[in-house]
Amino acid sequence: MLKRVAILANGGDVSGFNAVIRAIVKTAEENNVECLGFIDGYNGLLKNNYVKLSTADNASGILHKGGSIIGSSLNANVFNYKVVDENGNVTYQDLSEKCVQNVKEDEIDCIFTLGGDSTQKSARDFTLRGLKVIGVPKTIDNDVACTDITFGYNTAVSVATDAIDRLHTTAETHNRIMCLEVMGRYAGWIALESAIAGGADVAIIPEIPYDINKVADAIKKRQAMGKNFSVVVVGEGARPKGGTMAVKATRDGGAGVINAQLGGAGERVAQELEKLTGLVTRNTTLGYMQRGGTPTSFDRVLSTKYGAKAMELALDGVFNVLTVLKNGKLSYVPLEEVVGNNKQVGAVQGGTAESNVRLVTMDDDLVKTARNIGICLGD
Ligand code: F6P
Repeated sequence: MLKRVAILANGGDVSGFNAVIRAIVKTAEENNVECLGFIDGYNGLLKNNYVKLSTADNASGILHKGGSIIGSSLNANVFNYKVVDENGNVTYQDLSEKCVQNVKEDEIDCIFTLGGDSTQKSARDFTLRGLKVIGVPKTIDNDVACTDITFGYNTAVSVATDAIDRLHTTAETHNRIMCLEVMGRYAGWIALESAIAGGADVAIIPEIPYDINKVADAIKKRQAMGKNFSVVVVGEGARPKGGTMAVKATRDGGAGVINAQLGGAGERVAQELEKLTGLVTRNTTLGYMQRGGTPTSFDRVLSTKYGAKAMELALDGVFNVLTVLKNGKLSYVPLEEVVGNNKQVGAVQGGTAESNVRLVTMDDDLVKTARNIGICLGD
């Protein structure tokens, strides 16, 4: 019998965190299960810092709100945790056993881990330490393996589409090329889908290293038709053929976490296009706008479906899985499958070469559609 469950939200925020939390709490209450929320993701699990969640109190009126009422942590790999002592010496320690003890002491029957590939990697590692876990796939990047869509992605695409619409009118008015750098890390989902939704002329994605001359040619072709403006969407992980990704900064989160902060890909493309086409070119970097604020109705429904399904699975005694959407149907897959070949406990988190992320493939309908309607993909 399930008595008490806990939720943790981990990684970069997205619109829809609260909608998932609300759905889990509501489904739990319908079944007389108590629900806790660890504060700031795996950090809360480590420090045993939690709140009780209930619709009578904190978990109602939050469906439409961005952010997370229980916070979220970035780069908290409790299997390889950065510890700084009083003298400033840094060590990396496996503190997962402390987390396991906390869960046992708190008599928590199942933890719901809301997060992307790094979060689900740790979730799977905890299953090997004996915890019962159910993952819910979150990230604006839409790159979690084994599911067709993550919550937060649709809102990010919608924000990017709105930005493209706005850039379109200014591009047209002033005969300029307008570049828009969008997030997505190593995946081009946001760039590609928003480019199609916003009617952009070029979409440069990390999965297709670009030839800037090809992009310039596509823009010149438009000029020859009398169109003296163009809109170019650039995924932040874009790289030229034979070149590297644009890294804005690196941080020391330790081994096995994402230490490169991407940024600058849009500006790089803009400067080169200005030289090659002679058209005045400007770049806009959309940044964190894509993660915050009100979720779209699609994300509210998806998040609610994921949250309710996660609790349903727990009630049915199905653990150590990730809720997924496959061909439009709610389902689940073992966390073991989600981590793919990235099996070593704690050693490697997401966003690294070994991690199992879902990138855009060349046979995806979005790629085919973009090519069919003449969007230049830079190759
Ligand atoms: O993974 C989500 C994401 O927003 C990426 O699209 C982006 O590269 C990254 O997080 C930014 O990370 P941070 O919040 O650490 O700057």
